[in-house]
Amino acid sequence: MTIASILTRAPVIPVLVVDDVEHAAPLGRALVAGGLTVLEVTLRTPAAMDCIAAMSEIEGAVVGAGTVLNRQMRRSAADAGAQFAVSPGLIEGEGPDGPTPLLPGIATATELMAGLAAGFTHFKLFPANVVGGVEALNAFQSPFPQATFCPTGGVNAKNAADYLALPNVICVGGSWVAPAEAVRAGDWDRITQLAREAAALAPAAPAAVEG
Ligand code: 3PG
Repeated sequence: MTIASILTRAPVIPVLVVDDVEHAAPLGRALVAGGLTVLEVTLRTPAAMDCIAAMSEIEGAVVGAGTVLNRQMRRSAADAGAQFAVSPGLIEGEGPDGPTPLLPGIATATELMAGLAAGFTHFKLFPANVVGGVEALNAFQSPFPQATFCPTGGVNAKNAADYLALPNVICVGGSWVAPAEAVRAGDWDRITQLAREAAALAPAAPAAVEG
């Protein structure tokens, strides 16, 4: 799978922080049942790699690793079953080709230029709401028509549609569809409902560049 084909599967990628591997399967099933089939498990907890393995068993789910900070983490996530990797920034020496597709994060024009030079076409804008949000993405359109974005960081049910309306936004990422207290309480119905609302937001806008 290419990163473009993954990012077009759903308008919202849940960004997940999972402490307990026992939560992984029911959480993943709840999100997929609501129509969010691309799941980003952040490598921020000791359970994350096991959660990736558990969620990868769910029919219809495309599971990736988030908070991938270096080459070794990208490799380990792929070994655990991750089908893609997301980083908050550019990883030195890492390009699009590797054990899995990689979605690197950028926050400035200079970082975007470095990412384009490394061969990437798709980027996470992070932290989106802090670094200019919709206005920054609008401003990137003219000088960088070849770049496509998945903004994350401060994206929520209220502002996701504004991002998704931009021609250079393919999808958004966010944690709001899996609130920590709902996961702790095992309130899977609530998570499915949040996922359903997110999945209905809007189809991802056509990407500026396929690949
Ligand atoms: C992250 O990497 O933490 C994501 O961008 C999620 O941010 P959010 O919690 O603001 O949705």
